Amino acid sequence: MTLFDVYPLNNISIKKAKGSYVWDENGVQYLDMYGGHAVISIGHTHSHWVKRIEDQLEKIAFYSNSIIIPIQQELAAKLGKLSGKESYQLFLCNSGAEANENALKLASFYNGRKKIIAFHKAFHGRTSLAVAATDNKAIVAPVNETENVIFLPFNEEAALKECFAKYGHEISSVIIEGIQGVGGINIANDSFLQLIRQQCDTYGAVYIADSVQCGYGRSGQFFSHDHAGVNADIYTMAKGMGNGFPVAGILIAPQIQAKHGMLGTTFGGNQLACAAALAVLEVMEEEQLMKAAEENGKYLISRLQSIESLQNVRGRGLMIGFDVPEELKGLKKKLLFDFKIFTGEAKPNVIRLLPSLAVSRKQIDDFLSSLEEAISEIKAEISMVKA
Ligand SMILES: Cc1ncc(COP(=O)(O)O)c(C=O)c1O
Repeated sequence: MTLFDVYPLNNISIKKAKGSYVWDENGVQYLDMYGGHAVISIGHTHSHWVKRIEDQLEKIAFYSNSIIIPIQQELAAKLGKLSGKESYQLFLCNSGAEANENALKLASFYNGRKKIIAFHKAFHGRTSLAVAATDNKAIVAPVNETENVIFLPFNEEAALKECFAKYGHEISSVIIEGIQGVGGINIANDSFLQLIRQQCDTYGAVYIADSVQCGYGRSGQFFSHDHAGVNADIYTMAKGMGNGFPVAGILIAPQIQAKHGMLGTTFGGNQLACAAALAVLEVMEEEQLMKAAEENGKYLISRLQSIESLQNVRGRGLMIGFDVPEELKGLKKKLLFDFKIFTGEAKPNVIRLLPSLAVSRKQIDDFLSSLEEAISEIKAEISMVKA
């Protein structure tokens, strides 16, 4: 049997990982400034995370949601404390797309409406409604097409007001990333998120904060939407939540009440996933990783801004992007293959940095020196070709 070939692969096979480093099958070390796609929050194979999963595995890995699972309640309490959303309710599932599916569906159950507002360059996942609310026609299959999703320009307040004025009481929810990830690291303005809150209140719509990539402390606040100082009705979470163990969830404001059978999943909230998620929160608290993300992010952004060849350096905390000018278009590959550094990308020309929140100053400095060297080498290669 062959694998279904949907991923363009780099010819590298990782055998081992620790902290912000990974090693390939030949023992070559790589610095991971990509966090395995924003997933590695507390560092690869963190010893506390490994131990908590191992201990849980010895007890019980899975039993269905037909019984009381105390570790789910433990997770909800810890999550409430660290996120500051103690009055919210937790529903656990397995992936970012599933979290967004549940959020959009729950909003529709709540207000009985169908229309969803999403934004240009948004990415919310690859399933049913999540992909319909994703601004990329290439990944929307005919069966996913719906007239219920209205796409508006990101950060354009007049367009949002106009849409609410036109469709007001038909709008079920507004879904927005606090910082667009796949779309290229675009930060939602605080005033834009405040306006979403206000319009949702006025028209009875649900504000959904897609925090799958930008949440879980990555921006220096628990949810990047928190920078705006207003609460969403539903927060969706996944990537950093399990540090690589598949676990996701949604936080639901108290006014949205549960009914038996409204949402459900077989695997969501299993004991092993909860142990992994609790380990992440415990390490985040113990090692003060949100504060580290904020401080190291500020440092990294300001150092990147001083590199002349990079354009439009932007981000919050450890969710950072910059535009790579056409002449340096080989930069990402050069960093990977010549300097052994993983980075992320966003089409057409953005390099995305999404390291573990525990990345050290020394690792950031090493990255910056390699980046400058890589840029100089590309420039030297261009001059040689011209000469
Ligand atoms: C903002 C955002 N939402 C949703 C998703 C989908 O998450 P998953 O791949 O876990 O389904 C992603 C994945 O990249 C994402 O970045």
